[in-house]
Amino acid sequence: MKSSLIRKKYLDFFESKKHKIIESDSILVKNDPTLMFTNAGMNQFKDIFLSQRTSDFLRIANYQKCLRVSGKHNDLEEVGHDSYHHTMFEMLGSWSFNDYFKEDAINWAWEFLTEVCSLDKKRIYVTVFEGDKKDNTGFDKDSFEIWKKILPEKQILKGSKKDNFWEMGITGPCGPCTEIHYDNRPNNDRENISGKSLVNQDHPAVIEIWNLVFIQYNRTSDLKLIPLDSQFVDTGMGFERLCMIMQNKQSTYETDLFHSLISNLCQQINYNYGKNAQKDIAVRVIVDHIRAIVFSIADGQLPSNNKSGYVIRRILRRAVRYAYTFLDIKKPFLFSLVPTLANQLGDYYQELIREQDMIVNVIQNEEESFLKTLEAGLKRIEDLINNNKNDISGKHTFELYDTYGFPIDLTQLILKEKGLEFDINEFEREMNKQKERSKKAAEKDVGDWIIVHKDSPIVFSDYNTLEKKVKILKYRKVKEKNEVIYHYILDSTPFYPEGGGQKGDIGVIENELDSLNIINTIKENDVILHCSNQIPNDLKKNFMAKLDKANRLLCSKNHTATHLLQESLKNVLGNHVEQKGSLVDNKHLRFDFSHYAALSKKEIILIEKEVNKKVMQNIALQVHLNIPFEKAKKMGAMMLFGEKYGDKVRVIQFDSSKELCGGTHVKTTGEIGLFKIYSESSISSGIRRIQAYTGENALNFINERLNILENISLVTKNKNPFEAVEKLIFENKKNNKEVKDLKREKNNNLIRDLKNKEVSINNIRFISAKTSLTADDIKQIMFSFRKEKDLIVALTAIHQNKATISILFSENLIKEGFNANEFIKEACKDINGSGGGQNFFASATGSKISGIDDALKRIKMLLNKKTS
Ligand code: SER
Repeated sequence: MKSSLIRKKYLDFFESKKHKIIESDSILVKNDPTLMFTNAGMNQFKDIFLSQRTSDFLRIANYQKCLRVSGKHNDLEEVGHDSYHHTMFEMLGSWSFNDYFKEDAINWAWEFLTEVCSLDKKRIYVTVFEGDKKDNTGFDKDSFEIWKKILPEKQILKGSKKDNFWEMGITGPCGPCTEIHYDNRPNNDRENISGKSLVNQDHPAVIEIWNLVFIQYNRTSDLKLIPLDSQFVDTGMGFERLCMIMQNKQSTYETDLFHSLISNLCQQINYNYGKNAQKDIAVRVIVDHIRAIVFSIADGQLPSNNKSGYVIRRILRRAVRYAYTFLDIKKPFLFSLVPTLANQLGDYYQELIREQDMIVNVIQNEEESFLKTLEAGLKRIEDLINNNKNDISGKHTFELYDTYGFPIDLTQLILKEKGLEFDINEFEREMNKQKERSKKAAEKDVGDWIIVHKDSPIVFSDYNTLEKKVKILKYRKVKEKNEVIYHYILDSTPFYPEGGGQKGDIGVIENELDSLNIINTIKENDVILHCSNQIPNDLKKNFMAKLDKANRLLCSKNHTATHLLQESLKNVLGNHVEQKGSLVDNKHLRFDFSHYAALSKKEIILIEKEVNKKVMQNIALQVHLNIPFEKAKKMGAMMLFGEKYGDKVRVIQFDSSKELCGGTHVKTTGEIGLFKIYSESSISSGIRRIQAYTGENALNFINERLNILENISLVTKNKNPFEAVEKLIFENKKNNKEVKDLKREKNNNLIRDLKNKEVSINNIRFISAKTSLTADDIKQIMFSFRKEKDLIVALTAIHQNKATISILFSENLIKEGFNANEFIKEACKDINGSGGGQNFFASATGSKISGIDDALKRIKMLLNKKTS
């Protein structure tokens, strides 16, 4: 059965059991500080489990793109080396929100696997939670009894907390689980060793396929289990593993999900998959990683140097280096796999088709720059090898890893080829130190919520109220980098929480006793958190929440200008322009968008002009609330691809500019005052960034520039500053040339004078002199003697109360065994100095100026000794 049909059968089955079928959520987690990537289907429902939001449906099922590469669930190192682990995988999920519980969940899982998928009942083993003393949780007798009605007892195993108590992260919703395992071994093997003994033993053919979690607790930050008000079912099945079994394969990589990727890659390198174990691992790493990379970029996470962007960059580099080392691929190639993947999964994940060009560009760009890094690293290794004839230190290999992104196994391989080794323990020590450093920098200690008033928080919807009487419902303490911040949840709020690119409101929450500065407002899932570094004396009292109106207005101006900018970009550059990122705060606006080339000056002026025209037209804001999503689409409202919108949306309109938006805006465009682009740049291949000012900030920017021009006119006494600067540049060039010519002439005279000072010592020509030249001039003059025959030059100079001696041997003398270093090491003693250099030229600097004559004498003496 093809994978697409298996996915469909799963969704049909749960639809028949009255589940609402929803699309996969984004692979990126935007509003949860405890997670970077979606690591399970249940992530998007965390709020519901914690009673911070209610679900519109009692039963839901979906297929979810997941990534397990960081945090509690991290499979990265296994990937490629075994036959069934993946970074990116699809999870088939089903949920009950305080509706059905263990009985239906278990029975339906059984029905789906044995009746819809016709799996062999004898090959199925299940595990149930045995309980845990420390957590004070008991044996899951209910699940055991339900399974007993279905399966012989010999196919039911008890499991410990490690395998049978599922937790999303270190904190959060959790509960006991019952796992379904499948023995996929050939009959012969099954007869020899029972499948039961291989469950949870990391056997590649006896593997977990489905996890049925009964969420009943919240794990708090002091690691206590707090029972939840309601009970939930959260099941997740590994889609790739189910496909492997259904398609009678021994590895998930042999299923149709990976087939076209593997054959595309193998064709490119003319390799038959299955011929060489080492190469097969590399192939698996690559076809796995390309999925993680593509899905993340499609959802908007570009490779970068921090947080989730860095995770993606590391995965991409891991794939490139496996290709480089084991498949001998030395040029960008990963990007060429994108269309294959988009064809394979585009029906279910349309973002792969829609964003294909952008994804290809970004990956190709990343590959090119990493290959350059690899080359720079290779050069550094060469240098290290040349300078360290013996072994290379672990510190050096760590430098290669850390500074050049040079993978350790590649370093190892290259050193091995040269018969060198390095201290792996030292490398690991350095690595651990680094990990400790970054852990410390990223450490965040999130306290549990402390309830002040029991009530439900209200979501932000009131854009017109700037002050409101409020109560604190809950608060918690968050410690990050030695700073303590309190998060407050209020019963209602006028504060706009950071979202849609716009920074959160700031302001105060106050009463007659207290005044708390609100330094930011953010959203965690759907709950609004007011951040302050203060805590009131009496939390229970009523407060007035007052937002900073000036700050709100500045943000609103920038937000409205962003809408006008987006429309103008489309008008001037074309309809292909799509928003790729946006930031709006009280200082400026930043807008990232897809476009293939740098904008010309003319285009920038046109865009700016168009936006300012709309500002001057003073267009009134129209807010369309609760518009059905389809209607908004028909209105032609711009929307962000990859963003999940509800059934009802908010449309912001300024005449022809219409956008789905939750942000704050000015009432008429005239309030923006002025719009000025101050920078246009590239942030990655095919993605441009515009930064602009509005209102007073734009005026200040223009005035500052004008001021500079006026000052130039003033000092150059020329009304036209451009002409003045051009003239200065021209004159400067002319003067520089004259200075250079004069200097050359001076040096030539000096060289002539020096030649007159030549004496002969045992048939060696010797020139020595005391000068007041700069180090550069000395070098230049002395180097001009390099090609002479049998000549030694020794010059001294005094600069900044220091004496310098330099010595040069003509090239033919070097061949005869002379070494400038030897001479300088002796001569520097007379000036109390130190120095060195190459064998033909060396110099030393010292503090004893009066020693210069002695130093020259010593050089003469040495020469005499060496040549007599
Ligand atoms: N949350 C559970 C898991 O990820 C079941 O969906 O395994």
